[in-house]
Amino acid sequence: MQLKHYLQFNDLTRDEYQHLFERTRRIKEQFKAYQTYHPLHDRTLVMIFEKASTRTRLSFEAGIQQLGGSAIYLNTRDSQLGRGEPVEDAAQVISRMSDIVMIRTFEQEIIERFAANSRVPVINGLTNEYHPCQIMADIYTYIEQRGCIKGKTIAWIGDSNNVCNTWLQAAEVLDFNVHASTPPGYEVEPERAGLYGTDHYEEFTDPMEAARDADLVTTDVWTSMGFEAENEERMRDFEDWQVDADMMRAAKPDALFMHCLPAHRGEEVAAEVIDGPHSVVWDEAENRLHVQKALMEYLLLGKIET
Ligand code: CP
Ligand code: NVA
Repeated sequence: MQLKHYLQFNDLTRDEYQHLFERTRRIKEQFKAYQTYHPLHDRTLVMIFEKASTRTRLSFEAGIQQLGGSAIYLNTRDSQLGRGEPVEDAAQVISRMSDIVMIRTFEQEIIERFAANSRVPVINGLTNEYHPCQIMADIYTYIEQRGCIKGKTIAWIGDSNNVCNTWLQAAEVLDFNVHASTPPGYEVEPERAGLYGTDHYEEFTDPMEAARDADLVTTDVWTSMGFEAENEERMRDFEDWQVDADMMRAAKPDALFMHCLPAHRGEEVAAEVIDGPHSVVWDEAENRLHVQKALMEYLLLGKIET
């Protein structure tokens, strides 16, 4: 089988996502029905974390175990990764002792260098630039709740960060639109987002306008991991970019609200929104588990017929 990595959303095609979403539905159904499915018996996932995590670690570790394999957790603090071993050397060694690797790190370049030296598939578990597993789960959640996402409008309110960039890539791959509103100085950078063009997104200075008639409103923290030094300045700059009840009223009546979590109530989102009737944040978090099981199955075994 040809070696395939998942480093950014557009590493997979629309057909591949269609397959993954079908497999996710099946794998989730089987798991909920207590049916054992161990296609990755004896296989080992290595998870490398250079930043903190709750959901990503849990969902990958539980996911590989549920598929019959096991997980090894490495972090920068207590492995040689934090002591200057070249990423290329680490990739050579780690990929000879494991079957698949998930990495959460800083610059996208780090994961690219690792993948270029790896014998096994590498999955991006979040970088400064992208968070593809998150958006795969978000889109699966949208489909589960509302059906096809093609042609729909997603309002992005807040920072043009890794999660925003990945929504923008996903819009190109799956043919929907993103209406993005970011404070001045935090605008989308199409090149950093890895976009092919500007056809699938529009920028709005007023967040209310971005939310108008949207099918889904979504946001994320004002200060991402690695940017903590800018926190105070960001608190001031993002003040008017909170998703609140008025903003949800501007969206379609059946609009969904998503947040990748962890969230800060009273900052990027009002408590009444994240804890209110439009919010699907818990399904979104759970679906990380199911989509990533489909992803690991696909990267290791190819297309399995449902
Ligand atoms: N959404 C997400 O990736 O959460 P963690 O940082 O807890 O992994
Ligand atoms: N944008 C956030 C996402 C956390 C899951 C961060 O990078 O910290």
